[in-house]
Amino acid sequence: MKNKIIIANWKMAPNSFKEARVFFRAAANYAKKTQKGAEIIVAPPFVYLEPLSKILNSEFYILNSFKLGAQDCFWEQQGAYTGEISPLMLKNLGCEYVIVGHSERRKYYNETDEIIAKKLKAVLDIGLTPILCVGENLSERKKGRHFNVVKKQLEKNLKYLTMNYGLEKAALIVAYEPIWAIGTGIFCNPKDAVEMHRFIKNILNLKFKIKNFKLLYGGSVDSKNIDGFLRQPEIDGVLVGGASIKEGGKDFIKILKIADKLL
Ligand code: PGA
Repeated sequence: MKNKIIIANWKMAPNSFKEARVFFRAAANYAKKTQKGAEIIVAPPFVYLEPLSKILNSEFYILNSFKLGAQDCFWEQQGAYTGEISPLMLKNLGCEYVIVGHSERRKYYNETDEIIAKKLKAVLDIGLTPILCVGENLSERKKGRHFNVVKKQLEKNLKYLTMNYGLEKAALIVAYEPIWAIGTGIFCNPKDAVEMHRFIKNILNLKFKIKNFKLLYGGSVDSKNIDGFLRQPEIDGVLVGGASIKEGGKDFIKILKIADKLL
């Protein structure tokens, strides 16, 4: 099995850097010890990125499959935008990935497809890898509209990426995250996730001519169900939210161990 990608989205947690450091070191130490496992991307809150980047560079510099990601960013690289963080700033402190269009941001901050399209372009422009989140809500799934919803999101969110953009070289991660599965404990059947992944792959290949992409699943993934997702060849990895910091980070280590066993 080729290396899978495991993303830890810490969301708005933990409450202190002291705790963040403990979670981070536990996962990095595990990766350092095993040296074979999955590609791990930790996406902490912005305020912890720089000190964690320092820890990564000083204590874990031999790890080349352990990276930092941000949970969001702004769509301009600089300017008078109070409270915002640019992709350029993220790049300068050693962050390599940025989550764009997470459903919580679409919902609580009214992020539109247009805003997401601009953010995605800004992330690629500066040479970082976007992790674009797409997915339908429960009523859309019940009405059988999920394929259509995801197709529309992809078309709108990727609209600035024309064929001249150099997407042959640029890397993109798309996470299929059905909204009804996020934070609910109800996860998507891996077979249904695979079906959606095939659909997304076709759109990226045929409509956008994107070659270099990975497809992940996200939504209530934990140490009990991760195996079912990682076993699918169509699923390149998972985006883990709540379980990435559950039990003081212990569940995440269990997740990494399971991923290792499947290699
Ligand atoms: P969850 O979150 O694993 O808690 O459902 C997933 C996510 O952050 O996208």
